[in-house]
Amino acid sequence: MAGGGVAVKLSFLNQKGGAGKTTLAVHVAAVLAATGAKVLLLDADSQGSALDWSVARQKAPAFTVVGLPKPTVHKELPRLSQDYDHVVIDGPPRVAEITRSVIMASDLIAIPVQPSPYDVWAVKDVVELIKEARVYKELLKAVFVINRKIVNTAIGRDVVEALATYELGVLPTAVCQRVAFAESAARGSTVIEDAPTSIGAEEIRNLVKELTRLFNEQEGRDYSEARARKVAVGGRMGQ
Ligand SMILES: Nc1ncnc2c1ncn2[C@@H]1O[C@H](COP(=O)(O)OP(=O)(O)OP(=O)(O)O)[C@@H](O)[C@H]1O
Ligand SMILES: [Mg+2]
Repeated sequence: MAGGGVAVKLSFLNQKGGAGKTTLAVHVAAVLAATGAKVLLLDADSQGSALDWSVARQKAPAFTVVGLPKPTVHKELPRLSQDYDHVVIDGPPRVAEITRSVIMASDLIAIPVQPSPYDVWAVKDVVELIKEARVYKELLKAVFVINRKIVNTAIGRDVVEALATYELGVLPTAVCQRVAFAESAARGSTVIEDAPTSIGAEEIRNLVKELTRLFNEQEGRDYSEARARKVAVGGRMGQ
């Protein structure tokens, strides 16, 4: 995912509390760190859940966790991210100023959402902030990630249809409700480390693959658009 010496910034955002931002941010950071990459997990939530997770940890750190629950994330991140291949940001619930700052700092935004109508309605706030930010960051990618899906159930049609009204994609991989995610977190660990062959670990690895693909598609589009512009300019200059 790393983009030529510049860290890729992936954020988990949803102003609704308890959607799974911290759980997915920590697990995705663990998958990225397991590849040998240098990963920074930025905790932008004043509750400090990701920091608490790292304090509860008894094993050697798999990645660095830094707290910055301020609306200056977008200003400070270029300096903080210098030595890293990936930055994963765990966003706060509610606070719109910090969410805005995290959006401006991000290359890719994943919005965890539980597959219930109440949760789907509640993503409206963060989707609006992303749409506002696209005025400045036209190519900013954002996608829904279904979290806490009940194993062996289909996502309800009402949920799929409601998500479609937001005009953002939904990743094919859903992360299911699994007690192992909460249990491993309580120990400052992850299912990636505790149960690497489990279905839960596989779900998170698939999630990382899909996010990586999405990021690279964006890179490809930037590249081809830049090339198209260059060709057009070159063509005019050559006339
Ligand atoms: N896929 C899952 N399976 C089981 N439990 C989960 C799953 N995802 C999240 N949880 C649990 O749900 C609760 C809320 O998750 P989490 O803290 O990750 O959400 P959050 O969006 O970061 O919340 P907040 O908005 O308060 O920061 C936690 O107790 C967590 O362990
Ligand atoms: Mg959290």
